[in-house]
Amino acid sequence: MTILDERFRKFEMLPNEEKIKCFELNGRLFDMILSQQLNRQVLDDIYKITNRLRTIAKSKAGSVFLQTVLCHKRAMLYFAQPSSRTFLSFENACHILGMKTSEIRDPSVSSEVKGESYDDSLRTFSSYTDLIIIRHKGQNMAERSAWLLNTCTNRPVPVINGGSGSDQHPTQAILDVYTLQRSFEDQGGLEGKTILMCGDLKRGRTVRSLSYLMKNFEGVRIIYAAPKIFQMREDVCSFLERHNIPYVVELEELEKVLPEADAIYMTRIQDEHDEYAGESKKTDSSRFMLKVSHLASLRPNAIIMHPFPRRDEIDVAIDADPRAMYWRQERNGMWSRAALIAYIFNVHQQIMDY
Ligand code: CP
Repeated sequence: MTILDERFRKFEMLPNEEKIKCFELNGRLFDMILSQQLNRQVLDDIYKITNRLRTIAKSKAGSVFLQTVLCHKRAMLYFAQPSSRTFLSFENACHILGMKTSEIRDPSVSSEVKGESYDDSLRTFSSYTDLIIIRHKGQNMAERSAWLLNTCTNRPVPVINGGSGSDQHPTQAILDVYTLQRSFEDQGGLEGKTILMCGDLKRGRTVRSLSYLMKNFEGVRIIYAAPKIFQMREDVCSFLERHNIPYVVELEELEKVLPEADAIYMTRIQDEHDEYAGESKKTDSSRFMLKVSHLASLRPNAIIMHPFPRRDEIDVAIDADPRAMYWRQERNGMWSRAALIAYIFNVHQQIMDY
């Protein structure tokens, strides 16, 4: 164990409220590591910027303007786990704002294979770039990266967590809440709605991050529908209890709770986190799949979401239903991630004033 390992271990043991301070600069969001960092004001600001970006980018003159906003900055995308949406939406978000990007998508082509430590690799990325976006199978690697750069180096570039193990995916939660807010714009927004999350809730980082964000919306109720083995973990449930967010657990079948939901958020079984080959297959998850035959029992204004990739938990025939929101959700990711980057670099006022 190195001296940095020992120091990080002490940091890891701090309560989240303490840790979050390390991810701020001058009282503002600097690193985006945990959903718990986001309050309602920050979310609303990011969504206003998102809407403004979309409007401005509709014209060529607007797109050219946006590309000047961060043309003096460079971003590093370090994706040590497979990704299509998060990688591409972040890369394109950077380009919308004029940032240059470099990437490592496979640690086997980085000098880590020559024995370089993760910490040294990270410091190397920060030597060349002004923002680091990380996806990693280790659940604390984004956290460690932000901590390392902020407390142990003189080049604290912002770090964004693009998915950490089975723990958190905060920028997915940002785009999910944006999608929910937009979808319920004419129904009073997300406040007072029932959100049904279904699938692998235990290892699904998207549903974990989304659950944490619900503290910002009055009257939200959550239904967790999954077989017992894939149910939401205790840490998230006790967070909900501390914040008086009501939740119920459905262990038998999705169909029973569908009529209660304003949003149905489906997820895939995350078998990449199996402890041994075939572990997930030992559980029958077939009663937690959304089928065409279920559509009649959904509320007319309900929406269907999925962070994707999907397997068979949403029948492709459902794509034609106007309540299916997952393709829009993907696209919302690019705009809301561009807004987050503009917010972190504190250049959003230029965008709002354009
Ligand atoms: N939703 C999501 O994180 O997708 P990718 O794994 O394709 O990035």
